[in-house]
Amino acid sequence: MMDRLLLIRNYVFNLFDRDVSGHDFFHMQRVAQMAQSIAVREQADLFITETAAWLHDADDHKLFTDGEKQQREITELLQSIACSSNEISQIKEAIREVSFTRGAIPASLEGKIVQDADRLDAIGAIGIARAFAYGATTGQTFWDDQETLQPYTTIQHFYDKLLKLTDMMNTDAGEAIAAQRHQFMTQFLQQFFAEWQTSNIRIG
Ligand code: ADP
Ligand code: NI
Repeated sequence: MMDRLLLIRNYVFNLFDRDVSGHDFFHMQRVAQMAQSIAVREQADLFITETAAWLHDADDHKLFTDGEKQQREITELLQSIACSSNEISQIKEAIREVSFTRGAIPASLEGKIVQDADRLDAIGAIGIARAFAYGATTGQTFWDDQETLQPYTTIQHFYDKLLKLTDMMNTDAGEAIAAQRHQFMTQFLQQFFAEWQTSNIRIG
């Protein structure tokens, strides 16, 4: 039989290959790789962690109109690659726990690791790129210092969520990487506002 993770990867590729909202195949791949490397250090179950990481957005209600259909599909996929019912319930539990909009700390170590990996992909240079991509898909402007154009901006999202993630990491390894990415984001924001100011200077 083909490697189980390869079959999961193929499923995820077909599911997300057309996404432009920052939830594309490469997001899933980065989260899977990051989760895998944290799992090694934390001595977590590698298969449960990596599988949950690959599938962590596969039932997301903002990406799929029918989340329940997606959940059934995930179960069928895991059954088709001969996961035990114990493995399936651990994987599904970790996926359920991960969403950072829910804000809860996952009970399982594997869930904690996938949550850290997902949060790490929302900060730093890639996190910045993803935020602007996501904002564009929802028709959100990126910044508006007059607060006249739109009620919400992508820059505001940095303050509401992205800059808070560093203090919410579950693992030491995740925390160390987050600190560095956090610093880069604050640098980005500084430069952003400096340029914005300059462009507001009247000429002549
Ligand atoms: P999850 O992937 O765990 O469901 P979210 O959907 O909240 O988490 O976030 C996924 C990505 O979308 C992140 O990179 C996040 O910064 C971005 N994102 C979510 N909401 C916004 C928003 N209002 N503006 C800009 N980016 C956003
Ligand atoms: Ni995600």
